[in-house]
Amino acid sequence: MCGIVCYAGKAQCSPLIFEALRQLEYRGYDSAGMAVQGPDGVAVVRSQGKLEKLAQALSGHPLPGTVGIGHTRWATHGKPSELNAHPHVVDGIAVVHNGIFENHLELRRDLMSSGAVFSSETDTEILAHLVSRALSTTGSLKEALRAALHEVRGSYAVAVLGRSEPGRVFIAKNASPLVVGLTEGATFAASDVPAILKHTNRMVFLEEGELGVIDESGLSLETLDGQTVRREPKIISWSPVQAEKEGFKHFMLKEIHQQPRVIEDTIRGRVSVETGQVAAEHIGVDETAAKRIRRVVLLGCGTSYHAALVGKYWIEALAQVPAEVELASEYRARKPLVDPNDLIVAVSQSGETVDTLEAVKVARAGSAHILAIANVLDSAIPRAADGALYTHAGPEIGVASTKCFTAQLAALFLLAVFLGRRRGTLGAEKAMELLGGLLEIPALMRIVLGQEEGIAAIAKRYASSKDFLFLGRTLSYPIALEGALKLKEISYIHAEGYPAGEMKHGPIALIDENLPVVVVAPHDESFDRILGNIEEVRARGGKVICLSTVGAPGIDRLCDEKIDLPSSLSELSPLLSVLPLQLLAYHVADFKGTDIDQPRNLAKTVTVE
Ligand code: AGP
Repeated sequence: MCGIVCYAGKAQCSPLIFEALRQLEYRGYDSAGMAVQGPDGVAVVRSQGKLEKLAQALSGHPLPGTVGIGHTRWATHGKPSELNAHPHVVDGIAVVHNGIFENHLELRRDLMSSGAVFSSETDTEILAHLVSRALSTTGSLKEALRAALHEVRGSYAVAVLGRSEPGRVFIAKNASPLVVGLTEGATFAASDVPAILKHTNRMVFLEEGELGVIDESGLSLETLDGQTVRREPKIISWSPVQAEKEGFKHFMLKEIHQQPRVIEDTIRGRVSVETGQVAAEHIGVDETAAKRIRRVVLLGCGTSYHAALVGKYWIEALAQVPAEVELASEYRARKPLVDPNDLIVAVSQSGETVDTLEAVKVARAGSAHILAIANVLDSAIPRAADGALYTHAGPEIGVASTKCFTAQLAALFLLAVFLGRRRGTLGAEKAMELLGGLLEIPALMRIVLGQEEGIAAIAKRYASSKDFLFLGRTLSYPIALEGALKLKEISYIHAEGYPAGEMKHGPIALIDENLPVVVVAPHDESFDRILGNIEEVRARGGKVICLSTVGAPGIDRLCDEKIDLPSSLSELSPLLSVLPLQLLAYHVADFKGTDIDQPRNLAKTVTVE
């Protein structure tokens, strides 16, 4: 996610803002910049790359002044570059933004038709133009910002300063975090506590739809509709290291809990439940290609491969087109048959995994349409593809992928619905039901995550086990694989995922009282058969940890441990059933004391052979 820092006070602000941006580096970014109200108006310095590049630029162009805003950008619209870096300045008004303006394209067209000249590819720049346009009628920056925010749709944390109102920074929040730090003689604002914790622990957290003004004396706060807001500052007791994790013990746990928001961000602006449609411009596959496709081949490694396995089920069921899933490392090692009517889907959170990149190059030889599903804008795999469908999970710090996995699932689901609607195999009514169900997933995820305490207790009871077996059928089979991968990569306990129907063909020989068997059993059309598998395990003394839909008949008595899943559309169960497995793996590893965020032998991105 992007990082915002603001300062209004008596000290020279450039070094303060720079240091505060450094405290936000953990959020991941690809460019940075700063704007300061100086003797000659608003001066801006920006650079692509890490903060060292910004430091070099600042050494050549110092920014004197005591009021300023700074930004680290995680690119979502417009590739990483100096031109796309924030702040964006229009008519002496500087803007920084964290979030996504969904209606940026239509606003850009409207602004350009009235003469606005854009210098970047970003959605953010529209706000600078809107504020500038409104200022000519409102006369006040606060009212101009209020007017501009009534025109945009989407998530934002914004900070604005202008030459017309020295000494003040205007801030506003909707869905992206913004916190104000109060000190004697100066006021800070930032995307996150770590940026300003060294200066103060007195913090005011903005809430949805609030607009504020900071200056050297403090903060004045109101709603976007003009109602005054009075909010006592909270005293933050975290250490700076704790603050980066927002109080969570590990980045992985923080990222597990970010998933409801990540799904909201990945869906936002891309679906219309009313029409049962998925917006074509976000999918990276055009309408004609969608109709021409005769086969879909999904490629990935590790967790991304598991996401692709789930995608296969959805694409075949909704788009009625054959879908194959290949481990990228295997695919690239042979001479695959690629047809011009194939759709190749490369799934990769980093967009840099060498096996997946090389597999894309092999597929390229067959002149098929190549789509990348990635979390990092403009990374190598999207650049090598014909189109990209980006997840909006923000940077994932923990090596074990969690939020990027469910974001990939959401993106694959959107692709399957899009293909089904464009190919005429998915009716509007069913699509409306599916997309409506998808929009409910974040709330249902929060219910599942609310069971963490019970899941942690289960984890502790089985943390000394030497092996685990994970079972699932159809859509739950890839989730069983993912649960096994999570456990083995962070706790170092051997774990295998298996299709439950394969039990009789070998794995059943493993069953005894020392082998915990985790069964992913949502109440779907495979439920009765998987009850039989649970009986087989119990008959041989195995311990059964069940995940099942709350109220599903006849399963409670069969389980040694039970984790309830809220009811959802059965097609969407993978987005929920993976969460308890992530938490189970996390708490087993935490009990064992392994290095959860940086497990031994693992790299976050495998860019070498
Ligand atoms: C997942 O927890 C692992 N860290 C690993 O399997 C990962 O999914 C794999 O290396 C693929 O990475 P990518 O999504 O960045 O391509």
